[in-house]
Amino acid sequence: MLNVQSNVSLKPYNTFGIQATARYWADVQTPNDLQTLLQLADYNQVAKLILGGGSNLLLTGNVEGMVIRMNIQGIELVRENDTHWWVKAGAGVNWHAFVIYCVKHGYAGVENLSLIPGTVGAAPMQNIGAYGVEIEQVFESLEAVNRQTGEVRTFTREECKFGYRESVFKHELKDQYIITSVTFQLDKSPTFHTSYGAIRETLDQMGVTPDTLSIKAVSDAVVQIRRSKLPDPAQIGNAGSFFKNPEISREHYDQLLSQFPDMPGYPLADTDQVKVPAGWLIEHCGWKGYRRGDAGVHAKQALVLVNYGGAVGQEILNLAYEVRQSVGERFGITINPEVNIV
Ligand code: EPU
Repeated sequence: MLNVQSNVSLKPYNTFGIQATARYWADVQTPNDLQTLLQLADYNQVAKLILGGGSNLLLTGNVEGMVIRMNIQGIELVRENDTHWWVKAGAGVNWHAFVIYCVKHGYAGVENLSLIPGTVGAAPMQNIGAYGVEIEQVFESLEAVNRQTGEVRTFTREECKFGYRESVFKHELKDQYIITSVTFQLDKSPTFHTSYGAIRETLDQMGVTPDTLSIKAVSDAVVQIRRSKLPDPAQIGNAGSFFKNPEISREHYDQLLSQFPDMPGYPLADTDQVKVPAGWLIEHCGWKGYRRGDAGVHAKQALVLVNYGGAVGQEILNLAYEVRQSVGERFGITINPEVNIV
């Protein structure tokens, strides 16, 4: 039964831990709840904010409209063949719980994406990625509901137009669909992605050899790396990387390299662009570990902005502007937020 409440605190529902209030709040637990909601007489009169795990969100004030919390649960195996399993999960399933479910059942492909906060339904919105894997690599399709008509539509991988932290739902179809479930195509025989970052080294420290390598071991290694670098939102409010890593021309990169010889850069295949870690740029502007009031730049990962407890969204946003400006002035590079600012 759909339950709509008013004046609900959003503090427990955003990982930045920002205090803000939703004028209306609907907890959607089934596709049916969503259809009921769309048919409410005054549904069209209010602005809507769709909420998953609230882990990629910066609230800069109260939400005067309605927050729709997508809380559809359930994971099911829908089909299999000799090489793959197809697994469908509800939009409200916690992402890490989904990864652990897959690891336990031997469904390979999402182990590098362990411990990413958020929900299954939010994952395709920005094509979540970590340690050399993006969700598009295991994505089969998703179901979404048209916010105006209530029509249910299936989107294929091509139709989602995935890119680096991008999908069609952030562009042409922004604010038009609500994702209700996602189906993944997972491998029966794993392809291990262990060359990225510290995975190999961490596996060695864990005593994992090529003979004992498993998706569980990769998942454990990723969890260990993330725990060592990224703040736990239960202890320090944050939304993971606040900015995207910028892509600049090879010419610009070479020019910067003559000034900053140790600046990392990752050439992108089939283009003359180089991706530069924003964390490095921010650190080299002196921000790492900076704190003003309860807003700050994480001491172990400069790409992560944090709320030490009482910061309001505007304080985090002001800090983000200053960080962005100083990176622009020092390196001539514009860094853009990855987080949704509402
Ligand atoms: N670096 C610094 N100083 C810092 C942070 C990073 O110099 O304070 C440099 C280092 O050279 C390091 C490089 O940046 O080698 C890359 O750092 P890291 O491996 O921590 O990854 P990232 O590029 O900062 C991206 C994703 C993360 C994902 C990691 C691992 C984006 C915006 N972020 O971060 O995703 O976990 O790679 O794959 O692409 C997220 O999106 O919320 C997120 C946490």
